[in-house]
Amino acid sequence: MPDPDTRAYSPGLEGVVAGETELSLVDGEQGRLLYRGYPIGQLVERGTFAQVAELLWSGEWPTQAHLPAGPLPEEVIALLRGLPAETVPMDALRSAVSLWGALTRPQWPPTAEQARALTAFSPSALAAFARLRGGQEPIEPDESLDLAAGFLYQLTGERPDPAAARALDAYFVVGAEHGFNASTFTARVIISTRSDLASAVAGAIGALKGPIHGGAPTEVVNQLHEMGSADQAERWIREAVGRGERIMGFGHRVYRAYDPRAVALRSVAERLTGVADWLAMAVQVEDIALRVLAELKPHRVIKTNVEYYAAAVLQGVGLPPDLFPATFALARHAGWTANCLEQAAANRLIRPAVRYVGPAERSLPA
Ligand code: COA
Repeated sequence: MPDPDTRAYSPGLEGVVAGETELSLVDGEQGRLLYRGYPIGQLVERGTFAQVAELLWSGEWPTQAHLPAGPLPEEVIALLRGLPAETVPMDALRSAVSLWGALTRPQWPPTAEQARALTAFSPSALAAFARLRGGQEPIEPDESLDLAAGFLYQLTGERPDPAAARALDAYFVVGAEHGFNASTFTARVIISTRSDLASAVAGAIGALKGPIHGGAPTEVVNQLHEMGSADQAERWIREAVGRGERIMGFGHRVYRAYDPRAVALRSVAERLTGVADWLAMAVQVEDIALRVLAELKPHRVIKTNVEYYAAAVLQGVGLPPDLFPATFALARHAGWTANCLEQAAANRLIRPAVRYVGPAERSLPA
């Protein structure tokens, strides 16, 4: 080790290029998000999550793709049945993925087939947990439905409204992949040790569980609930900003332009307006919030971020807010597993250096 250690160090690895990827480009300056070159807006408008997942796994845009939810082994149902009703849904999902790994023993290197099977398994597991905690029995997957529609079906037992299914599918497209975020990096570190895909995804779920990574949409819902109605929004926002608080769903560290995911989800949410009054209020409150924030923070461009319309869509399709983070995890399975395939294809164990700042060498007390 050099003495003193003068090697470059960036807390949080901020600005450090820690890999190469063909999967997504996150362009904060221009407000662009591309999956393998395709803009997120086009993917939402003209594609489905099944197509996007295949694109991420294989590199090719399939003209058609079908990805139904997978079957649940008895052992997984028994595990979920044994969890207390107050279990955090992310904990239930992480445990189910871990058991899936123990039962199916996916081998290194990870394959697209494993990625498909795990991405299809998790919605069934989360839906089963959501029903079991409410005293209802799990519902078998419907092979004819794609993942988002199938998840809604397995939650409620009813065939979902096509507009709701389409909206959740669009949310899954938007949530599928986003560069070297913390959970994706976690998955890549784990797979780089030649560990298995289930371990990588279980670890990624653990990283996503942290509130500063995956928790904001739930807060957006609480905020609108506190406002009560759009009439109260202006007063509520002025008072909150006056107390030095942040308005959830606005502002972004990376995106200087309008978050392209928010643009895509806004048009999805607007089409859902007939489904829930809540969405109409969310759209009204956005306009008020943008106007008031521009007035109160003239030195800072504050635009709507993805979480605002993620909350609108998830609420609009009828999901309970405490399922939002785990539902995000279902979408991100595509990106996590695609990153694992990419990492394994040109693997180098991820093992960075650390600067030692402890005591110099010394002897134990006599
Ligand atoms: N509501 C009110 N004011 C906000 C704001 C928001 N959502 N976002 C930024 N600001 C203000 C800050 O108060 C600060 O004002 P000041 O200069 O008068 O003190 C100014 O804008 C700059 O804030 P800063 O923290 O430097 O901005 P940032 O770009 O680093 O922050 C976020 C990015 C996401 C952390 C921030 O916008 C935020 O907390 N948003 C709300 C939480 C949220 O929606 N998170 C999900 C992100 S996808």
